[in-house]
Amino acid sequence: MRPWEIQARSNVSGLYNGGFPYAQPAMSNTTHFGYQTVAEEEKVKKVAEVFHSVAAKYDVMNDLMSAGLHRVWKAFTIAQAGVRPGFKVLDIAGGTGDLAKAFAKQAGPTGEVWLTDINESMLKVGRDRLLNKGMITPIALCDAEKLPFPDNYFDRITVAFGLRNMTHKDAALAEMRRVLKPGGKLLVLEFSKVWEPLQRPYDVYSFSVLPWLGKRIANDSDSYRYLAESIRMHPDQETLKGMMETAGLDKVEYFNLTAGVAALHTGIKL
Ligand SMILES: C[S@@+](CC[C@H](N)C(=O)[O-])C[C@H]1O[C@@H](n2cnc3c(N)ncnc32)[C@H](O)[C@@H]1O
Repeated sequence: MRPWEIQARSNVSGLYNGGFPYAQPAMSNTTHFGYQTVAEEEKVKKVAEVFHSVAAKYDVMNDLMSAGLHRVWKAFTIAQAGVRPGFKVLDIAGGTGDLAKAFAKQAGPTGEVWLTDINESMLKVGRDRLLNKGMITPIALCDAEKLPFPDNYFDRITVAFGLRNMTHKDAALAEMRRVLKPGGKLLVLEFSKVWEPLQRPYDVYSFSVLPWLGKRIANDSDSYRYLAESIRMHPDQETLKGMMETAGLDKVEYFNLTAGVAALHTGIKL
């Protein structure tokens, strides 16, 4: 099946549902949900609850929490992606569509830019934002750990602030490599390990200000406490680099952004 044929199987909400029943995960391996240890299937449910809860206020919270910095980090990612007219681009965990929107403009009418996410609430916000800009791009509701795309298909793949939430990051990275063309580039933008001298003020900000903002703006402090905890549990720059190499990516490098608050990792499939 060619990827665009997937659209024909869209459900009523206009979002692809995968088209087949996903295999049930093996029972009760444990993983982290923030600082809690939970069964893997429990993490998937809890992450889904977080993003259903925050979807409507996601964009305004992003601007407030990062004082607009997420836009700078994304602009750097877009520049490093170097998307050209005609490129096939996959944005994984694309949520409200910031990256897909930029790539769709760069890839132009001969390109193919997919906005995908596992969460229907986030994806609906993204779909509506793109449609409101007059952009019609393919959209798919799918799990990064089981991508519904053929091998060797995309010129560029991005995942921004999504990998942290995935249960089997190694499986997701292997899937990303599988669907990347030889010569294609994967870009992973994610929170990372901040420069040591900034650690304490960053902790105070993360564990006091973020949940407070979450409560005031989105009426949800728990989701923003999860955000702070999940950042602390996420692999640091060197560990993620090693994971990408293990997944078979070459020339892996990373760029610290804002003293390591975020980092962009890139790798090529040779
Ligand atoms: C913090 S948001 C990032 C959204 C967007 N990329 C951005 O940078 O603004 C994280 C996204 O990851 C998605 N996500 C979590 N686990 C996923 C998975 N296994 N597969 C695909 N998307 C996933 C969530 O649904 C959520 O929309």
